[in-house]
Amino acid sequence: MANEKNVLFTIFGGTGDLAQRKLYPSLFRLYKKGNLGKHFAVIGTARRPWSDEHYREVVASTIQSLNPTEEEAKEFASHFYYQSHDVNDSTHYNTLKDLADRLDETYQLAGNRIYYLAMSPEFFGTIVSHLKSQHIVTENGYNRLIIEKPFGSDYQSAFELNEKIRQVFPEQDIFRIDHYLGKEMIQNISAIRFANNIFESQWNNRYIDNIQITFGEALGVEDRGGYYDHSGALKDMVQNHILQVLALLAMEPPVAFSEKEIRAEKIKALKAVRIYEKSEALKNFIRGQYAPGELDGNTFKGYREEDKVDPESTTETFVAGKFVIDNFRWSGVPFYVRTGKRLTEKGTRINIVFKQVPVNVFKTSVEDEPCEDRTLPPNVLTIYIQPTEGFSLTLNGKEVGQGFNTEFRRLEYRNSAEMVENSPEAYEKLLLDALKGDGTNFSHWEEVAQSWHIVDVIRKAWDQVEPDFPNYKAGTMGPEGAFELLEKDGFEWIWQPDDWYRDRGKLED
Ligand code: BG6
Repeated sequence: MANEKNVLFTIFGGTGDLAQRKLYPSLFRLYKKGNLGKHFAVIGTARRPWSDEHYREVVASTIQSLNPTEEEAKEFASHFYYQSHDVNDSTHYNTLKDLADRLDETYQLAGNRIYYLAMSPEFFGTIVSHLKSQHIVTENGYNRLIIEKPFGSDYQSAFELNEKIRQVFPEQDIFRIDHYLGKEMIQNISAIRFANNIFESQWNNRYIDNIQITFGEALGVEDRGGYYDHSGALKDMVQNHILQVLALLAMEPPVAFSEKEIRAEKIKALKAVRIYEKSEALKNFIRGQYAPGELDGNTFKGYREEDKVDPESTTETFVAGKFVIDNFRWSGVPFYVRTGKRLTEKGTRINIVFKQVPVNVFKTSVEDEPCEDRTLPPNVLTIYIQPTEGFSLTLNGKEVGQGFNTEFRRLEYRNSAEMVENSPEAYEKLLLDALKGDGTNFSHWEEVAQSWHIVDVIRKAWDQVEPDFPNYKAGTMGPEGAFELLEKDGFEWIWQPDDWYRDRGKLED
């Protein structure tokens, strides 16, 4: 069989931000490491009328931070070809086919093709249909489709898009990107769970009190107001990234660490997530939108003042919610999630909060003396996904000295800055997976479909009630409701970076 890494990439959206920030640097890293050799070519397409020369200059400029030699940059960029393309015009696909066939021959690519859809989702369906009708998909090599999010905007539109794509690509050749699945510590969740009996034996409702997943962002919507104002945090982060992480945390151990087995378990886990009734959705999910705010001497404008955002927008920039999973392992264990823009800090982390020992023997009342505080802090396993990578476990130990007071201790492990710096970026890993035809770290259709079912009811419930926005100040950890959500269950967020700033007078109460 011809080398599977001999391949033609066709990038729809070749002049775009994603291609320039992520795809070209990732392709270069693969090239430097020998994962792409002489036999590869890239066609970049978009509407703009660029020449190959200009395109190559742009590609070369996107890899400058990776310090290539001049010769390396030139050789790498020489594999790139530009084709101005209108995705709705069938005749343009003929030109694209001619170029693809020519490059196939020049670079001896044996018909292997990867199509990367990195552009506005409204064109996904039409591009894919044309790939078939204009005979761009080959008969001899493999043909794989990498597709960026959003995959639909609700279940129905996702289903229709999937039906279109299925006419051209079988499920195993569709690689729906969720870039979180390429992150080192997300991939590490399985190692922490399945390679440590102390955790896996306790990974259930007998020992775990609750699980908290936080995807906090300090940035606002930046220049993506146009997209974001139609999406909101629920669709932007919960439907995809957060539910994928939840599936990895909740799934049963797979019988083998293979694409087929892992996907089967993730799908089962997502199917066990309760689909809420409207009233349950409103009770268990709260939304927020940021108002202007000040943190540590910096001032931020409110969401409604951001570029390309409707000044009366009711789009949520924050979500906190409680998922429940109706199966034997998780019944009774809330999975709290929260994500938002303009929060106190950028931080993605998971806190697994274990149940405490049934009796605090250090504080039981002796003779007739009542005991004031019997609670012990829970053991918490934290998985730090970004910006630092690692994990920690909190324990209670004895305070040094006379008497017997317990004291809270933390065992910590972090990947060194050097390790983080040198480890492959998420897109590099995912592109290599796609080159190898390994779909483990991509979302299967059934996962996407189930995630939409879960999220659609929340969206629908919200759409029937006018939100009282804005309701949290930029720089804080979201609206009051996000804290009350846990308080009413007798819990609290383990990670509260806003307190740190408040204690030091850097954030107002
Ligand atoms: C994207 C969202 O999927 O993920 C963005 O569309 C968000 O709104 C981004 O900012 C966060 O990704 P990361 O890798 O920076 O945490």
